[in-house]
Amino acid sequence: MTDLFSKFDDVIALRQGLLDSGRTDPFNLVMERVESPTVAICNGKRTILLGTYNYMGMTFDPDVVAAGKQALDDFGSGTTGSRVLNGTYSGHKAVEQALKDFYAMDHAMVFSTGYQANLGIISTIAGKEDYIVLDIDSHASIYDGCAMGNAQIVPFRHNDIEALEKRLKRIPEGAGKLVVLEGVYSMLGDVAPLKEMVRVSRENGAMVLVDEAHSMGFIGEHGRGVAEAQGVMDDVDFIIGTFSKSVGTVGGFCVSNHPKFEILRLVCRPYVFTASLPPSVVATAATSIRKLMDSADKRAHLWENSKRLHAGLRQLGFELGTAEPQSAIIAVIMPDLEKGAAMWEALLNEGLYVNLARPPATPAGMTLLRCSLCALHTDDQVGEILGMFAAAGRATGCIS
Ligand SMILES: Cc1ncc(COP(=O)(O)O)c(C=O)c1O
Repeated sequence: MTDLFSKFDDVIALRQGLLDSGRTDPFNLVMERVESPTVAICNGKRTILLGTYNYMGMTFDPDVVAAGKQALDDFGSGTTGSRVLNGTYSGHKAVEQALKDFYAMDHAMVFSTGYQANLGIISTIAGKEDYIVLDIDSHASIYDGCAMGNAQIVPFRHNDIEALEKRLKRIPEGAGKLVVLEGVYSMLGDVAPLKEMVRVSRENGAMVLVDEAHSMGFIGEHGRGVAEAQGVMDDVDFIIGTFSKSVGTVGGFCVSNHPKFEILRLVCRPYVFTASLPPSVVATAATSIRKLMDSADKRAHLWENSKRLHAGLRQLGFELGTAEPQSAIIAVIMPDLEKGAAMWEALLNEGLYVNLARPPATPAGMTLLRCSLCALHTDDQVGEILGMFAAAGRATGCIS
């Protein structure tokens, strides 16, 4: 018998090597208690959270929590059914209406996760004769959506407008084309040049899908994302998003003005063949989305936090993923996995949680300490965070 697990031997060895070195496993941290969107207890110690994507800090919002409790009382703990059978409650329609209002768009379709939204929309709308042109640094859910469908896949160099144009021009005349982009790329926290990319896509007859997972709620005047900030909302055909970041719960969605959009509810397998979100989740999401419409002050404070952390880390001598802060993600580039794991552990011992990211999730084989800021991080907390980076950086030799 061939052991089907032998293909994982390299990863097993890498992980074992890390554990044998006496390091805390960076991929197995337990939050023993969560006190707020910015503080948890880990290993019995107060820990500032700087790696949760809880950008707008909605997870403990009193209105959001109350809506979830009420829905649990009124509708029970789960739907036990698909949206096309017994799994559409009034709460599912209400959260779709909240999304339509938030984006000022005609249609909204909610999935059980953002991963499933990409899987479902991409694999369903791009068929056998079609082409998907995508940024090479796209999220795994975008790649998996491509793999699940039958379209031809054409990747182009990250954020390279000319490369996108060249690929589009090579596609046979008359073929269906879908360009897939992200507003903010979550590994380095950099923003896509959507204005030019959407123009080039349109000029070459392609439809455009933008995943705004890391920009919803924060970027753009109304928090609609990078497409709003760069003035191209009307030229984007599909926006994909998630409830697992700024919205503060779990779930995914697609919004669109396409006149035939609603047919997707019958033909999109990751929507049809899975149970719908629990009533408490859609109630928290709807309440959160409506509050995000009116959160300009929080957006402004989040930008301040992002700018201050970026400038402070640079001043300390860390190498960062972007020259200027472009989003609420600040990526600190580590020389290798060993140093990255040492720095991650030193930060945890100081009382700070960040994400350790490594290939294949990261571009160009990089090891990153990814920091994601929250609108509820106080000025004092940002100061504390910089102090912890200074201490951990010196202790591990990452800075002098
Ligand atoms: C760009 C992007 N798209 C989609 C997703 C999937 O979202 P979810 O957590 O809702 O599955 C993520 C999650 O990290 C993401 O970063």
